[in-house]
Amino acid sequence: MTTTLANPGAQKMSGNEIVSLSRKHTLYEWSAQSKVDPIPVASAKGIYFYTPEGKRFIDFNSQLMSVNIGHGDERVINAISDQAATLAYANPFMATEARARLGAKLAEITPGDIDTFFFTNGGADANENAIKLARFSTGRHKILARYRSYHGATAGAISLTGDPRRWAAEPGIPGVVHLLDPYHGIERGWESAESSLARIEETIQLEGPQTIAAFILEPVTGTNGVLIPPDGYLEGVRRLCDKYGILMIADEVMSGFGRTGEWFACDHWKIVPDLLCMAKGLTSSYLPLGAVGMRHHVAQHFQDKVFYGGLTYNSHPMGCAAALATIRVYEEDRLIENARKMGAVLSELLAGLQAKHLSVGAVRSIGLFGIVELIRSRKTKQPMAPFNGTSEEMTALGRFFREQGLYTFVRWNTFFTNPPLCITEQQLREAFAIIDRGLEITDKAVTD
Ligand SMILES: Cc1ncc(COP(=O)(O)O)c(C=O)c1O
Repeated sequence: MTTTLANPGAQKMSGNEIVSLSRKHTLYEWSAQSKVDPIPVASAKGIYFYTPEGKRFIDFNSQLMSVNIGHGDERVINAISDQAATLAYANPFMATEARARLGAKLAEITPGDIDTFFFTNGGADANENAIKLARFSTGRHKILARYRSYHGATAGAISLTGDPRRWAAEPGIPGVVHLLDPYHGIERGWESAESSLARIEETIQLEGPQTIAAFILEPVTGTNGVLIPPDGYLEGVRRLCDKYGILMIADEVMSGFGRTGEWFACDHWKIVPDLLCMAKGLTSSYLPLGAVGMRHHVAQHFQDKVFYGGLTYNSHPMGCAAALATIRVYEEDRLIENARKMGAVLSELLAGLQAKHLSVGAVRSIGLFGIVELIRSRKTKQPMAPFNGTSEEMTALGRFFREQGLYTFVRWNTFFTNPPLCITEQQLREAFAIIDRGLEITDKAVTD
């Protein structure tokens, strides 16, 4: 069967054909295969993507909070194709211009004296290598991580992960100690920075500071709730790490590259982590690439000690060329400034939803990183879906968004508002008009 396409070119299959063949022969992640219902995607431009039949979606999650510059930017596409034509691959023992330039550029935009980078395939292996760097350079083995976190799906990264995606992978790698976050869910809310830090320090003392190599955390937590730390918290973590000789690893895989309105979320609090992990926005997902950046004192350790780590695609020239072109787009189009400006509009629109809709229990945003938490009781703040679960109403809301051409993540009792950073005010309002109508569904479930 053939279908006339809205966007002729590469696509020859219908949406249904793509979905059924993908489901038959490929495994979908984090899902029972009989339950998956993927959207067939044929093309994308700016903040929109399209099915083969031409249905348009507003990409209100930048795919996986990662296509930060927006879809289909020709500057990046051309840089990739030029690199492919010149030198598609060189092994990691070589030196290439793309690698050289990207290392130097990242040293410029990352905080403090972070000036050396190890390139990976994505976020999880950036975190894997951050653990190695921390363990090798401190000679200690334990890693502190938080419960409300996601750090990736490879063996080490999933062990660091605090959320329920970790459970099926247990027992994971040894030496990971999980800590509570300052946020305790919609019903219990936030703890002060001081009390949360006191709890962390107590754990450090109980575990033995001399055994702890690093504390990894998302400076602004991503899928576990766009959790923006109270002022003083990250500064306090930095102080505790310094006090006990523990390296601070910032996992900025999701929060980096302008998502929060700064290059890196750490910049809001002027924190310089010892290790900084990135991926996603680094290339805006045009090609897979991650990196772990390290401060001078960490890099120094490996001047005369071997770094026992490697990947066939380490410093892949096409990935590096895509990243360089992507960074240029952030700069040329002032996308980080736009994230700040549009972030102010986003936060107003979110506040408007909260004022109007009974089911909106909390809204949070920083830059263009936003979330809505839904509740079924104003009195108790009982979430619209339980922890790690779903509900009829959340499923119906997700279905409504999809029918209306709004793509975003609906998870547990929350949904995300994370558009590409090139979004305009009018486009933001267009998306919020859909959300506003959708919330009538969840409002009906509010009992008191
Ligand atoms: C904070 C954070 N760290 C790590 C990862 C893992 O990155 P990847 O899926 O590229 O391995 C993710 C992915 O969503 C993430 O959000």
